[in-house]
Amino acid sequence: MLPAYTPSPTASLFGGGKPIDFGITLKDGKRLLGDGKTFRGLISGTVFGLIVGLIQMIMVANGFTPFNIQLPGFGETLLGSVAVIFSLSFGSLLGDLFMSFLKRRLKLERGAPLPVIDQLDFVLGAWLLVYLISPVWFVTHFTYKIIIILLVLTPLLHVSTNVIGYIIGVKKEPW
Ligand code: CTP
Ligand code: MG
Repeated sequence: MLPAYTPSPTASLFGGGKPIDFGITLKDGKRLLGDGKTFRGLISGTVFGLIVGLIQMIMVANGFTPFNIQLPGFGETLLGSVAVIFSLSFGSLLGDLFMSFLKRRLKLERGAPLPVIDQLDFVLGAWLLVYLISPVWFVTHFTYKIIIILLVLTPLLHVSTNVIGYIIGVKKEPW
């Protein structure tokens, strides 16, 4: 999950500048995505997620077992592994973009909280894209049990990192 968890905080740290929707407002009077979704956030987030995944890949290839935990790999081939890592990373930000689109349609301003969705959009985006790109990898690593554990743990992790982000001043809201 690390390549899927990295992009959001990275986007908060390095995001800003040109919005992905180029400032477009739809007929409902609300922005397509809003100023909280920027190219810099999307690119920096995806790149950092990729870097984290590649480091994990190198660890797995070298048989590194931190705390005696056998790390799962991203696939059999280099290309396949990179595709999985990219899907986790980029997919997480796609999920976040999609939910911002929905939030604007619900007339929620940038930064307005949408509980549960805010905490899980990136996980669902990552899973969906990785499932489309590599269904076999997804079903072998994400059993029902793991999916349930992640759906419970991720919001807790998300809220705690966002509170830290809020305290250190890189997030405008603590959610
Ligand atoms: N960010 C970005 N580009 C992205 C995603 C996030 O620049 N693709 C940055 C923005 O500065 C954003 C911050 O990360 O404000 C926090 O992300 P998020 O909470 O997803 O955005 P919100 O500002 O809350 O906007 P929204 O209501 O659309 O979720
Ligand atoms: Mg938000």
